[in-house]
Amino acid sequence: MAKYTVVTMPGDGIGNQVLPEALRLLRAIGFDAEYIHADIGWDCWCKEGNALPERTVELLAKHKLGLFGAITSKPKKEAEAELKPELKGKGYSYFSPIVTMRQRFHLDTCIRPCLSFPGNPLNFIRKKPAGGFEEPIVDVVVFRQNTEGLYAGVEWTNPPERVRAALATHAKFKPFTAVPGPDLAVSVRVITRAAARKICRAAFEWARKFGYTSVTICEKPNVLRETSGMMEEEAKVVAKEYAPIRLQSTNIDAQTMWLTKNPEDYGVIIASNLFGDVISDAFAGLIGGLGFAASGNIGDDVAVFEPTHGSAPKYAELDPGIVNPIAMFLSAVMLLRHVGETEKAMRLRDAIAAVVKEGKVRTYDMMRIPGGAKAISQGAASTMQMTDAVLAKLKQPATAQTLECVAARDGI
Ligand code: NAI
Ligand code: MG
Repeated sequence: MAKYTVVTMPGDGIGNQVLPEALRLLRAIGFDAEYIHADIGWDCWCKEGNALPERTVELLAKHKLGLFGAITSKPKKEAEAELKPELKGKGYSYFSPIVTMRQRFHLDTCIRPCLSFPGNPLNFIRKKPAGGFEEPIVDVVVFRQNTEGLYAGVEWTNPPERVRAALATHAKFKPFTAVPGPDLAVSVRVITRAAARKICRAAFEWARKFGYTSVTICEKPNVLRETSGMMEEEAKVVAKEYAPIRLQSTNIDAQTMWLTKNPEDYGVIIASNLFGDVISDAFAGLIGGLGFAASGNIGDDVAVFEPTHGSAPKYAELDPGIVNPIAMFLSAVMLLRHVGETEKAMRLRDAIAAVVKEGKVRTYDMMRIPGGAKAISQGAASTMQMTDAVLAKLKQPATAQTLECVAARDGI
């Protein structure tokens, strides 16, 4: 029997192209695992009225470890229109299966490392005042609270009367009291102290483990006094236990401006759900974008690893596939690290870094050319060729040069 069982959920579109490629690497590296396929995504919604079928939930509950590709989501009305005729009008409503999965298994800690790989032509560069350019090393890990905040799903258009009445007890609701129900939409930002403390602690633990000197709480407590206020308060409480790691506090809006000015000044960043989603995408833009952005959704019991990109439907049907599988590979690296297979994780990460540094094999995004069928004839590597290149590096013993191309820390 294999030591590990991984529930694999390729999902929709390019999820089906990148996830099998990650499995090729995990097999090649000798990860002792069995893989069990599970259904998730748009087809499940259209045919069953549920994008996260119960059989998939059961598999995850049993095996506790998942690798996920991507799903397609569509707005409410479009989703209803694509539902199979027998299911229409039966009260099914579309929910994002990944958000549901996070809530169902309390995957409350989302870890999104944004690390620049030397030699990546997509790395952020900065103009020097005296002329010329420099390329700061970005080594940021975003800790996003994954189950609460504005993504908790507590929202209404035309809130029920009792909700309106409750809102009306707040003085600041006065300007909205006369708005007709159908013209009023409300999303509730829920933050609990326990969850705020937990994400802060996870972030500080990571900082201590991997030698980051600062943790930044990125919120907006001057305006969102209650919710961001509680996040910041808890960050301060937790920080006391982790001296000499410095706690910095930034506002989400200012942070999105500063990150292109001095990205090297940030290490671990804590944010609530929406702000964490925003700031992790923003930092990912500095290290190569969606082709390089990996993530882990971690709960006490279950953990699911996924690239942050979506299903990219416009490239889903291309054969050979052209999208960059590195974000998926780095998600597999995170999975290896999570289960304690650190040596294998580092070997895989170093092989990826070596391919990026060498620069001979690049997918279309790394060449900054338009995606599409023509990309291959313009010299872009296919998805599978990128895997082949990493496989070839895995077969070579790690040289001093390979190791040197890895950033100082082992946070991914
Ligand atoms: P997307 O991430 O699927 O793609 C946006 C664009 O980024 C693509 O058209 C492509 O140009 C580029 N891109 C994405 N992944 C890439 C890769 N691995 N290599 C190279 N280029 C890549 O986002 P979009 O187009 O906004 O959404 C498409 C569908 O995916 C929607 O239905 C959306 O709801 C869903 N989605 C799902 C997510 C998930 O499964 N976690 C996350 C984001 C979007
Ligand atoms: Mg996102």
